[in-house]
Amino acid sequence: MDAGASLDGRVIAIAGVGGGLGPVVAARLGAAGAIVAGANRGQEEVDALGEELGLGKRWDGRAVDLTDVDAVAAWRDGLVERFGRVDGLIHLVGGWRGGQPLHEEPLADWDLLHRLLIRTVQLTTRAFHDQLAASGHGRFVLVSAKQAQHPSNGNAAYAAAKAAAEAWTLAYADGFAPGGATANIVVVDAILTPQMRAENPGKEFPTFTPAEHVADAIAWLCSDGAAEMNGGRLPLTMP
Ligand SMILES: NC(=O)c1ccc[n+]([C@@H]2O[C@H](COP(=O)([O-])OP(=O)(O)OC[C@H]3O[C@@H](n4cnc5c(N)ncnc54)[C@H](OP(=O)(O)O)[C@@H]3O)[C@@H](O)[C@H]2O)c1
Repeated sequence: MDAGASLDGRVIAIAGVGGGLGPVVAARLGAAGAIVAGANRGQEEVDALGEELGLGKRWDGRAVDLTDVDAVAAWRDGLVERFGRVDGLIHLVGGWRGGQPLHEEPLADWDLLHRLLIRTVQLTTRAFHDQLAASGHGRFVLVSAKQAQHPSNGNAAYAAAKAAAEAWTLAYADGFAPGGATANIVVVDAILTPQMRAENPGKEFPTFTPAEHVADAIAWLCSDGAAEMNGGRLPLTMP
């Protein structure tokens, strides 16, 4: 896996760029030469992230409600207008509810997780389908959780939502012609972010996957070296 491959000039959209993982992925794709188009809820936070990344004209940060079908379509249309194409879509919208037995967990938890973890995947993949299919280097990446395949009782809604997003991703992959665009899943248990390291100096996070490893895997999946991998699951869980 050549994580150092060039993504020179590729236009890669990141849905949910403002979270724990997003800035690390944006920096990694930017370092590989990509034009990084990040969407999150608030314009101020994407502007601040743009300053931090220092990608200049290779950064395009927008405020988008990724649960709103029209807002997602407008985001896509704006990117096509400004850059002429979109080559990659990285889905990083997250959220968690749980910690109660399945029969006691409020159904409102499921409703929220459905919106964050499934609906945003549906809306973004549908909106960007034609651009990815036409790109010649089209890539979709979902970051999923070990819980999707190994659900625990206290994580039922979260595990079911992530499993649904995985199934959607595999169905999306199935729709791409051989040798065309790809859609793949990166699997982690939990992610160790730079912020967590800074807030907990010296603390060990043995089961957490470093955000930088996830970003390397995503950069590789976006590269030509991963052109043959479609509908795959890339486990990055720690032993
Ligand atoms: N963190 C982990 O340990 C872990 C474990 C397994 C899998 N994952 C997956 O890895 C991915 C990245 O994780 P993460 O922890 O970085 O995710 P996150 O911080 O929970 O979410 C990423 C970003 O999505 C934004 N967002 C939420 N709803 C939105 C909406 N309607 N419109 C636009 N933006 C919205 C959030 O903005 P706000 O801050 O404004 O809500 C946040 O900045 C997620 O798909 C997550 O499920 C994470």
